Amino acid sequence: MLSIDTSAQTVMERCDTLASYSEEPGRLTRRFATPPMRQVNRQVAEWMRAAGMDVHEDNIGNVIGRYAANQPNARTLLLGSHLDTVRDAGKYDGPLGVMIALACVERLHASQQRLPFAIEVLGFADEEGLRFHSAYLGSNVVAGTLNPEVLAWTDSDSITMAQAIRDFGGDPDTLLASRRRSDDLLGYCEVHIEQGPVLESLNLPVGVVTAITGHSRIIVSFTGIAGHAGTVPMPLRRDALCAAAEFILAVEQMGRSEPGLITTVGQVTVEPGLVATVGQVTVEPGASNVIPGKVVLSLDVRHQDDATRILSCQQLRTRARQIGEARQIAVEWQPVQENGMVPCTPHLVDLLSQAVKRQGYPVHLLPSGAGHDSVTLVKLTDVAMLFVRCKAGISHNPAESVTSKDVATATQVMDQFLALLAQSPTP
Ligand code: GLV
Ligand code: MN
Ligand code: MN
Repeated sequence: MLSIDTSAQTVMERCDTLASYSEEPGRLTRRFATPPMRQVNRQVAEWMRAAGMDVHEDNIGNVIGRYAANQPNARTLLLGSHLDTVRDAGKYDGPLGVMIALACVERLHASQQRLPFAIEVLGFADEEGLRFHSAYLGSNVVAGTLNPEVLAWTDSDSITMAQAIRDFGGDPDTLLASRRRSDDLLGYCEVHIEQGPVLESLNLPVGVVTAITGHSRIIVSFTGIAGHAGTVPMPLRRDALCAAAEFILAVEQMGRSEPGLITTVGQVTVEPGLVATVGQVTVEPGASNVIPGKVVLSLDVRHQDDATRILSCQQLRTRARQIGEARQIAVEWQPVQENGMVPCTPHLVDLLSQAVKRQGYPVHLLPSGAGHDSVTLVKLTDVAMLFVRCKAGISHNPAESVTSKDVATATQVMDQFLALLAQSPTP
């Protein structure tokens, strides 16, 4: 039998180890299908095997460990999270969920326990979408919902996604073969850092997620005319960056027009309202003495209410077109992701809530403003999520921090969740 402190310590150490596999020296950046992803998959597979799991990698590069049930023809519970990261990431967004799931299996294995259902721990190959702007690649393949058109999309080095999958050892032509059948599944449950300040303000280690906010990602391109910075008079310029700058401020203004509720310590749920972000901008040709000829930027828009999000995107599109017309700049609008709000499945939310109570904590239900693989997996099976408190709510930042004590609590809640599911009539 493994003590809970040992398990939590192992999870913390493993998150440190995984954070050392990066594309960039001195900071953590791990995009889909890159050499550090290969190292991470290899390492995670080794830990999974040691925990009594059969391991394979599917056709897109998700690493999957299976811990068999105590009976034949049993159904399967999926656990896990993603192993890719954003640029200059923290250690816990994604890997924490995979490591806690693995710890739960390790604890069953150490006490020679099997459950009336199999457990599969999934380490998704891409959730953040950093390399190809297309999030949830890994879970889309598991759900059988990947749009094959994305295989032709290219990264910043003009490598197509199909080629990246091949280079990683996968097979872009047989992705459908990696989809799961829903009648075999009991659901998907993911542990994740909260990435917000609510649990900390309530002094709670964990919370149960009710729903995941809707989300649009769009690539917007502004094309003008590059020219000499010393010779073209200002009224004759068609500067793509100036048009993009005007648009970026319009995006901020749109987000600020509906600020939502900002929590104060000890108060209820945060509702971020409308949030609209331009997080990535490329300027071409990109020289101090050249008028920018082309700008490509990423736009990320989220709101709990799908109609508000969709209307906001339409209004921003109109604004981009107006800015382009006034400045004689061509504007291209390419939606790359569109997900409505996803409610978590009530009976799994109830089970997780009972598990939290059994650990002696009050149940705090909260929505997720961040996107998660449940958004795609809900098309396949029931979904639930457990959030773990993180310091100052900071995430997508190397300052991401969780405590070993909270990790221990989350692991115990998941142990309880598995036990409750084993006793429930469904398996
Ligand atoms: C994932 O981290 C997202 O919400 O963008
Ligand atoms: Mn993230
Ligand atoms: Mn994440």
